[in-house]
Amino acid sequence: MNGPVVKVGVLGCGTVGSSLINLVARQGDFIESRTGLRLEIARVAVRDMGKAREVDLPPEVFTGEPAAIVADPDIDVIVEVMGGVVPAQDLVLSAIAAGKPVVTANKELLAAVGPEVFAAAEHAKVDLLFEAAVAGGIPFVRPLRESLLGEPVFRVLGIMNGTTNYILTRMTEAGADYTEALAEAQELGFAEADPTADVDGFDAGAKIAIVASLAFGARVRASDVDCEGIRGITADDIAFAGRHGFVVKLLSVAERFSGPEGNRIVARVHPAFVPDTHPLASVRESFNAIFVQGKSVGDLMFYGRGAGGGPTASALLGDLIDAASNRQRNNHASLGSFSDMPLRPVDELTSAFYVSIETADRPGVLAAVAGAFSDHGVSIASMEQEAPTTDPTAPPVRGQARLEFVTHLARERDLTQTLQELSDLDIVLKVGSVIRVLSDESGFR
Ligand code: NAP
Ligand code: HSE
Repeated sequence: MNGPVVKVGVLGCGTVGSSLINLVARQGDFIESRTGLRLEIARVAVRDMGKAREVDLPPEVFTGEPAAIVADPDIDVIVEVMGGVVPAQDLVLSAIAAGKPVVTANKELLAAVGPEVFAAAEHAKVDLLFEAAVAGGIPFVRPLRESLLGEPVFRVLGIMNGTTNYILTRMTEAGADYTEALAEAQELGFAEADPTADVDGFDAGAKIAIVASLAFGARVRASDVDCEGIRGITADDIAFAGRHGFVVKLLSVAERFSGPEGNRIVARVHPAFVPDTHPLASVRESFNAIFVQGKSVGDLMFYGRGAGGGPTASALLGDLIDAASNRQRNNHASLGSFSDMPLRPVDELTSAFYVSIETADRPGVLAAVAGAFSDHGVSIASMEQEAPTTDPTAPPVRGQARLEFVTHLARERDLTQTLQELSDLDIVLKVGSVIRVLSDESGFR
């Protein structure tokens, strides 16, 4: 079969770019048989022209000048898999301005300047497809963009970072502490040498900014997302969660609140106690999952591999075929328009909380601590006292106790004031972890 040839320019040939090039080589005949199109990887941009590449392409295909590929009139579609905002932003905008469809995996770019790039693509009537930018191989962006376009989605809860899910799984199942589990994730190649983007929640924050934009039709950027990571989670927190029917997960949360003042949204990343009956609780190791709640559709769950060359290349390939087919038909997938939607201040939100504190162990301590909760209207649902170690063979630290509380639903502002009062008490040695509790199947309130 000799279908029309679509010449593809790939910017980047690292983990993801090389996997895509190899997948196109393997699936080329099948794709042609299904679509009538022959995808040809015509040019590839890299930074280091001397590096060996695990792809079967002639050397003349490679260049160190990505802008030359974007400007090449023979190139039909651009795939951007170099990452970062500079120079990716200029390259993507130049491609769009030249009428070339763009497929990208670059969540950092879209979370930083998504509104500008979306508007440019919409104005130029050019495809901008980014399935791979959120949750790697899980087909989620297209369902959100297309199938759920008219759905009144009010909440998205996601496990969108595989590295932190792996670390938390090891802490839960092997009793590892955070440092051991991180070292293991680094040895296995999940976590980078500098794990900041993953463990401090910024990678998950970039993804939820993109998801919130699509789910609510709002201009949401990474800078709008409140990020709290997992560095502070202890083996004691995990053990308490397990004893009470919860697992600790790093959740990316996007919520839309409608009221008399209109729609307001929240996008944030934080660890949470997830009931072990919730579908997200069973998502283990480096897998990702996204739980969507819409007023009409009810609950939906998407599950799979959120990272890695193969899964990410799979998402890119689907987009590439779409972009190539649309181009043949002189068509493009509209992103629609996005509006400015006010953010709801986090301190107005309501949740149940787990709070651990280390105190002196003497008469009156519990009454003083309970008083701090009561002073701010935060109601205690349950409480445990134990020595501040989970090692049953270690002797208790004399005169000290760890108190662990779960509250009823409370406003974040009231909880913050409670924590302030607790830390001012001289019998409180340390306010430890404060973790939100997903209070029922329907999520945070
Ligand atoms: P990577 O392995 O670091 O590859 C980046 C590639 O881009 C390299 O080939 C690099 O060239 C090239 N490059 C970077 N800057 C360049 C420049 N200025 N000019 C020319 N070439 C340049 O990264 P990756 O893991 O493949 O990730 C690529 C993108 O996919 C990122 O946006 C990432 O967030 C996203 N993503 C990755 C995953 C994953 O699992 N890895 C999952 C989902 C999304 P050299 O090879 O010469 O250095
Ligand atoms: N570092 C990310 C993760 C993969 O652990 O999920 C790329 O988004």
